[in-house]
Amino acid sequence: MDTVTIDVASTETTNDARPEQQEEQREEQRVEYDFVIAANRLPVDRTVNSEGEAEWRRSPGGLVTAMDSVMRGRDGAWVGWAGDPGQAPEPFLDEGLYLKPVPLSVEEVADYYEGFSNDTLWPIYHDVIVPATFKRRWWESYQRINRRFAEAVSEVSAPEATVWIHDYQLQLVPSYLRELRPDLRIGWFNHIPFPPVELFAQLPWRTQIVHGLLGADFLGFQRPADANNFLDACRRLAHLTTSRKDCVSYTPEGGKRRTVRAAAIPISVDFKALEALAKTPEVEARALEIRESVGNPKVLMLGTDRLDYTKGIRHRLKAYQELLKDGELAPPDVVLIQIAVPSRERVEAYRELRGQVEGTVGQINGVYSNVGATAVQYLHQNFSREEMAAMYLAADVCLVTPLRDGMNLVAKEYVTCRYDLGGALVLSEFTGAARELNQAFQCNPHDIQGLKNTILTAVNASATEKKRRMRALRTRVRRHDVQTWAQQFLDALQAAPKRPEDA
Ligand code: G6P
Repeated sequence: MDTVTIDVASTETTNDARPEQQEEQREEQRVEYDFVIAANRLPVDRTVNSEGEAEWRRSPGGLVTAMDSVMRGRDGAWVGWAGDPGQAPEPFLDEGLYLKPVPLSVEEVADYYEGFSNDTLWPIYHDVIVPATFKRRWWESYQRINRRFAEAVSEVSAPEATVWIHDYQLQLVPSYLRELRPDLRIGWFNHIPFPPVELFAQLPWRTQIVHGLLGADFLGFQRPADANNFLDACRRLAHLTTSRKDCVSYTPEGGKRRTVRAAAIPISVDFKALEALAKTPEVEARALEIRESVGNPKVLMLGTDRLDYTKGIRHRLKAYQELLKDGELAPPDVVLIQIAVPSRERVEAYRELRGQVEGTVGQINGVYSNVGATAVQYLHQNFSREEMAAMYLAADVCLVTPLRDGMNLVAKEYVTCRYDLGGALVLSEFTGAARELNQAFQCNPHDIQGLKNTILTAVNASATEKKRRMRALRTRVRRHDVQTWAQQFLDALQAAPKRPEDA
């Protein structure tokens, strides 16, 4: 586990000065940056251990993994929630990066984060795999918190700074921030899909969201289809005109006409750093140890996801269960390690999913495991980067079978770690990564028979065939890594018309 212990007392300030002196002190301590990012989460989450010390752990999810590598070594600020409800810790420096926590109360976590972000927007933006819940109270909270983020960003942004806002939790921040600070250059990137207009139209607050986003100078999406869905929503729901192929024009209330560009720039991984990690003797040794600990199977399969209904874990387990039943696969020759990283555990749909996944794992193991030969090794935990690199290196087949996913960085991490050109990637067509990784063994996870066939094809492919595919996959990820992605995004943001009259 990546854990750092921070002496919280040393980051807090006691201040006995008179209010006007305090105001002056605050002025003096004012910290401003030319590059600021805002995401719902900070790169580290705060928890308090049994000794009452604050522990900071790396936050879950692809957004943090990607942005962490982009921001390390840069002079900048990151505005986000520290992951627990209540008072926010004081801002602090983490390896040169200024972290500014935004507070969320217990109620705000329930309404803005678990409610509107993850029980309204998340299902709508992921094909309504589970039904979305609409509550006006959640929407009120979402607006309030987005305003709070905009204010926090404004406080740490130097004049004319570049601000990069991330993801579906903060879609109103671009316009709130522009109201506060018209001098800033504002970009927004959506890490998840943007839904087709027919689904987006269900949102009672769809036009407010479109206008919230249009406060940005540039809007980035994972796939061209996502950018087109957004432009469609602008045309058909907000009745705005789209000019050229990828621009939308509008006139904000009391303002001048503006033009905003929306385009696809797919996210990636830190290829060099992750490959170097996979090549360390410690990780290589750990990979062998992992294989040994599961009985040195002929085929070790790996699934690793946040425990989320979008990830297709149930479909994957069903296909595996049937392959065991058909006698096509059997332990101890074949073992599946399924990592399910705990996620959003207070949201009902996630609780239900956990019950279903753990029930199925129990059924599979009850019927198909033997003493010393387990069919599914199920791990409901979060692992360090080192452990994950070792898992990837150990796995003969990596199963990435989401029903819908903005990108899926697990797929890209797996190929990055396979510098030995070993391994095979089974990849759902419904991931953003499928557009780029067309040499993977692609599948439709809804088609259980098709999924079974694809898994068997990957398991039985010759070493030459697997090498050929892996080489092509690695070339793509090496050429388009997270640094290239960030540079392309920032270039597009700089190229955006700065002021209405420049458009
Ligand atoms: C996805 C989202 C991120 C989110 C992450 C983890 O990657 O795009 O915005 O941070 O999941 O989810 P959580 O709700 O725990 O932040």
